[in-house]
Amino acid sequence: MKTLIIYRTFLGSSKKYAEWLHEAVPSDLMKFSKANAKALEAHDTVVMFGGTYMYRPSLLGYIKKNWKGLQSKRVVFVTVAGAPEIDEVSVKTYDKLPENIRAAIKHFHLRGKAGNQNAEEVTKDKVQPIADYLLGK
Ligand SMILES: Cc1cc2nc3c(=O)[nH]c(=O)nc-3n(C[C@H](O)[C@H](O)[C@H](O)COP(=O)(O)O)c2cc1C
Repeated sequence: MKTLIIYRTFLGSSKKYAEWLHEAVPSDLMKFSKANAKALEAHDTVVMFGGTYMYRPSLLGYIKKNWKGLQSKRVVFVTVAGAPEIDEVSVKTYDKLPENIRAAIKHFHLRGKAGNQNAEEVTKDKVQPIADYLLGK
């Protein structure tokens, strides 16, 4: 199983999490803007990390645009946000992904930091459940 980890970040948290996961599982790592159809094609599992901005997952457009090439793969979509997972805004944000995509992917939610806010939340151990899922533990 070849795994590709991609990320889109503005404030750095998604990149940090992606790098920690890359250390924990055999994988390739790249920015979403480099992850073209050819790069996706070469992998069986694709993990995406992206920040949440204005109630929108920043990789919403990317996953929709590339869904044709992704739908046959194992896809893990990680929302990185200021709000916790149980917050209603987080649920509404994730629900912006089309239902057919949500039904086919695995979702994780991690807290990111904005300035010094939530800085203590962004730690390496947070990616362990994702690593365990990928490694079938
Ligand atoms: C302009 C702006 C808008 C944001 N909007 C949201 C939001 O709608 N929901 C949320 O939970 N967090 C929001 N956040 C917090 C970010 O999701 C959080 O800082 C996250 O770490 C960003 O990911 P990144 O560090 O990979 O860029 C916002 C942050 C900024 C600066």
